[in-house]
Amino acid sequence: MTTSRTPAKFYAPLAIGAPAPLRALPVRLERMIHFVPPQNDKLRGRVGEMIKQVDVVLGNLEDAIPMEQKEAARAGFIKMAAENDFGHTGLWTRINCLNSPWGLDDILEIVPAAGNKLDVIMLPKVEGAWDIHYLDQLLAQLEAKHKITKPILIHAILETAEGVKNVAEIAGASPRMHGMSLGPADLAASRGMKTTRVGGGHPSYGVLADATDGAPRSFYQQDLWHYTVAKMVDACQSYGIKAFYGPFGDFSDAAACEAQFRNAFLMGCVGAWSLHPSQVEIAKNVFSPEPSEVAFAKRILSAMPDGTGAVMIDGKMQDDATWKLAKVIVDLAKLVSTKDAARAAIYGV
Ligand code: GLV
Ligand code: MG
Repeated sequence: MTTSRTPAKFYAPLAIGAPAPLRALPVRLERMIHFVPPQNDKLRGRVGEMIKQVDVVLGNLEDAIPMEQKEAARAGFIKMAAENDFGHTGLWTRINCLNSPWGLDDILEIVPAAGNKLDVIMLPKVEGAWDIHYLDQLLAQLEAKHKITKPILIHAILETAEGVKNVAEIAGASPRMHGMSLGPADLAASRGMKTTRVGGGHPSYGVLADATDGAPRSFYQQDLWHYTVAKMVDACQSYGIKAFYGPFGDFSDAAACEAQFRNAFLMGCVGAWSLHPSQVEIAKNVFSPEPSEVAFAKRILSAMPDGTGAVMIDGKMQDDATWKLAKVIVDLAKLVSTKDAARAAIYGV
């Protein structure tokens, strides 16, 4: 027995008068999701400038917003949405989780006030498909009631052990699913991992080289997040949605942030969070393809115009599969070029 909807019902609106669910995600460049605390007047005042520099602006209502400022953050987000023209930059909010005292009012106040500007709701602490089904139904009712013309998408944070166990069901729970982000801080706590860091490696997590004749033994630090990122990417890509690395908490260590972002990029993630302005450039550098990779990928595509057969380029074998790898890189370069004039000039795609 299956408990999922039939394909026709899966793509039907969940409320009379709600906009039809999307059958494919809008094509958008989302190299960084830039977090703004919306209750902070000074930072909210800089959003107009930020819109020109980042791919997504997110008003954060959840963790890092003190309890006594939750309502002010919600009101600040509504103001921020009304006061700015976001153009091709995404407008997202991270609401409080569904079992918190604020999650319901976040949804009930923001959708009527900002629903026609809001692209994505980031939902924290998602544990299973049931969380998505709840928000999916509620959003459809609110969209119908408040005449929202395009569906608001849902982005889940993968940050509990139960969520990781259920990651594929979460990814496939609704056509409203935009993607998901790794939440390494909450996930580490939920799993009982012994680290106090927000993302990144740990000096004690690694492998020790074999002992040989008393020579000093090298210790190689490993990526604590490798397993989870891989599992998340497979779940997301198999449902045609996007995977993101989340936060990197040590703002003083740009090199480590870059290394963590790059691991995620190479494994299939399309972006990461920027919690500090310095992380915006890091994300741009990492989540835009390397010019030399783009140049090589272009050579593969032009050597195999119909994508079949086998050719040698610089001693490296190319075939139908490497043509697909090259296409991933060139398609990303084209997408970056729509928003980033400096890189467009370098890529020439
Ligand atoms: C993000 O929300 C995290 O918990 O790392
Ligand atoms: Mg979290």
